[in-house]
Amino acid sequence: MTAPGRGSTCTIVSVPLVPPYIESLRPYEAGRTIESVQRQYGLTRVAKLGSNENPLGASPKAIEAMARTLSGLNYYPNGGLDLREILAREYDLKVENVIAGSGSEGIMSNIIRAFLCDEDEVLTTEAAFIGFQVLAKSRGVTYRTVPYADWHYDLPALAAQINSHTKIIYLANPNNPTGAIFTRHQFEEFYKHVPERVLIILDEAYFEYAKDNPRYPDSMHYRHDNVITLRTFSKIYGLAGARIGYGFAHEELIRNLLKVKLPFEPSTPAQAAGIAALGDKEFLHRSLELNARGLKYLTEGLQSLGLPVVPSQANFVMTVLPTEGDAARVFESLLAQGVVVRPLRAFGLPNCIRVSTGTDEDNRLCVEAWRKSNVASVGANQPG
Ligand SMILES: Cc1ncc(COP(=O)(O)O)c(C=O)c1O
Repeated sequence: MTAPGRGSTCTIVSVPLVPPYIESLRPYEAGRTIESVQRQYGLTRVAKLGSNENPLGASPKAIEAMARTLSGLNYYPNGGLDLREILAREYDLKVENVIAGSGSEGIMSNIIRAFLCDEDEVLTTEAAFIGFQVLAKSRGVTYRTVPYADWHYDLPALAAQINSHTKIIYLANPNNPTGAIFTRHQFEEFYKHVPERVLIILDEAYFEYAKDNPRYPDSMHYRHDNVITLRTFSKIYGLAGARIGYGFAHEELIRNLLKVKLPFEPSTPAQAAGIAALGDKEFLHRSLELNARGLKYLTEGLQSLGLPVVPSQANFVMTVLPTEGDAARVFESLLAQGVVVRPLRAFGLPNCIRVSTGTDEDNRLCVEAWRKSNVASVGANQPG
């Protein structure tokens, strides 16, 4: 860079402007949009199965509620208070136990800001949800992981890694990208090893998909003072583009999160959409039915091609290819055929691919395109 009017190289930076832990990060790469894939390959139909979105769109009630707020866009939002009050009533909590934000990632980012000090450590699984990885690493603290056990969280191994510096443990249940869950018994066994000074983030972004499974523990039924539960309207409620999520925790935790939260998140339209979406049980039911069909179809379809598929409790499945090159070739081949899936290299699983459930037609297109991709399929890492 040239300093204005001096004609010489700018040397104002005597210390590095960018800390090494930021320098080493890669900007988040959002999934490809339908329009960009259509343009690139001259396609008319594209199945977008890369970002765990709801293929049915959003609840019409949410869209109407959002539209009704547009005439008041000149006014600042109220920081999510309406949604907090409604959730507090629904869960029989105080409003002080509830927070709302710009997606659950917005709240995660506040957690990182509010609670992590320089010498603290973060502990989670290998290949954790990429959004959390980026947020935690951008704080420059030590980020430690333990490997999966058969594509599930290895909670005993995580417990064994807790040390005097551990401050935050991140657990997603169901997990992204594997779709696997842990049970209440497994969590409670793990919890016995977690000191009170450690904060557990229980990320339940896919809660609604798993909640009817008797093995799945709803963390609102096993509260602990050092656990914060995060949920979102981005998945089953189909409001990923609106950016709205929420969390439940002890009031001391929420009180401190509110100190660092951007005062005007979530936006007024997002909050209105979220509140209306909560009330649209019919939309939820339809979404669950479509997803159950999609999970079965994709699981069986990929297995019929000789691919191992991790049993999923969410709205996506993960499969393991023999090599990183195979995963890259499948991704490119599917893309050219109008099917967008998620390669998991950035998560830390270079030979894995995640496929979100779509409409019945999307799912059919995906398996068909995969069949045509002719990429070697039988993986060494057969998931259980
Ligand atoms: C486990 C998990 N948590 C959080 C999120 C992000 O949710 P939001 O859109 O509410 O920020 C995702 C999205 O993919 C996710 O998979």
